Amino acid sequence: MSVIDQEVPDQLLIDRFGRSIDYLRISVTDRCDLRCVYCMAEDMKFVPRSQLLTLEEIVRIGRSFVNLGVSKIRITGGEPLTRCNILKVFEELGELEGLKDLTLTTNGTLLSRYASALKDAGVTRINISLDTLDADRFKRITRVGDIRKTLTGIDAALDAGFKRIKINSVILKHRNHDEVLDLVQFVKDRGLDISFIEEMPLGLIGDHNREETYYSSDEILSDLQGQMEIMPTMEQTGGPSRYYRLTDSETRIGFISPHSHNFCEHCNRVRLTSEGRLLLCLGQEHSVDLRRVVRGNPGNDEALTRAIIQSMEIKPKGHDFNLSGAPIIFRHMNATGG
Ligand code: 5AD
Ligand code: SF4
Repeated sequence: MSVIDQEVPDQLLIDRFGRSIDYLRISVTDRCDLRCVYCMAEDMKFVPRSQLLTLEEIVRIGRSFVNLGVSKIRITGGEPLTRCNILKVFEELGELEGLKDLTLTTNGTLLSRYASALKDAGVTRINISLDTLDADRFKRITRVGDIRKTLTGIDAALDAGFKRIKINSVILKHRNHDEVLDLVQFVKDRGLDISFIEEMPLGLIGDHNREETYYSSDEILSDLQGQMEIMPTMEQTGGPSRYYRLTDSETRIGFISPHSHNFCEHCNRVRLTSEGRLLLCLGQEHSVDLRRVVRGNPGNDEALTRAIIQSMEIKPKGHDFNLSGAPIIFRHMNATGG
């Protein structure tokens, strides 16, 4: 009897270390309308369109994961909303029974156009990247961006009725580390959440020396604690964030600390690149070429299901990021999504 004829138990994806994988992140494009200095080099080579998974292939792979017990899918990029006809992916994934959470990471520039359609398609939550509230700094960090587009996008997501929208801020010393309080005030005023992220050494970037711009979560926390009352919470949203709450509001403040607090032990996720490579760890190169499997087996998902189950055998125990010297991982963040 083949694996897909059997009754499917709730959770089939368990790796060698007993970690249960119920979360898939899908990068639908490596392209973006911004060029954030920590994410991309100035002149980037993007994947030729012919090598991208088609929208149908993305949905097919997503569906197979959900059949194997994955209950959360995040669509990321590059900037996912720059991909043509991307709504179709949200609409089709949004209909899958068993998928409890369908989320999006975006830079917000196209949300004024898409927010309500995303809500209708069944998107449950949105993360929006915003590192600064200052227009000139925004331009400097994103190289090309206009902050007004992202701010309008945040308003559009609120107007569309999204709850617990989260702002992601990568904090760099001497670039924006002095804005953490203002960013917290910004999210508090709007009823949003925020996560502060330590920069990860993914890909070669020409802009700055990552060791010099490192600003730890603990430094941010102590900057905040000097100015406001915040309490640690036990909350988990299925991610690597550690959460705090402001005592006088619903706002949650998260810290994603790949350097100072390793989170591999509780890893529950895998990532699909826009070319169809299933990455078992953000900080390692272990992967399976699912594009080859879907293209080699049209109309039959058995081989795909098997390849996904087998991939659990090569999920590494963890990663160790190192800020000095060359990055160990040469793919940029836009290849896998944040
Ligand atoms: N380190 C940490 N976060 C990064 N992001 C992009 N590149 C990096 C990096 N090198 C973040 C973005 C966004 C999400 C997509 O990933 O700011 O919040
Ligand atoms: Fe684009 Fe996000 Fe990378 Fe910035 S961090 S260049 S918005 S993909």
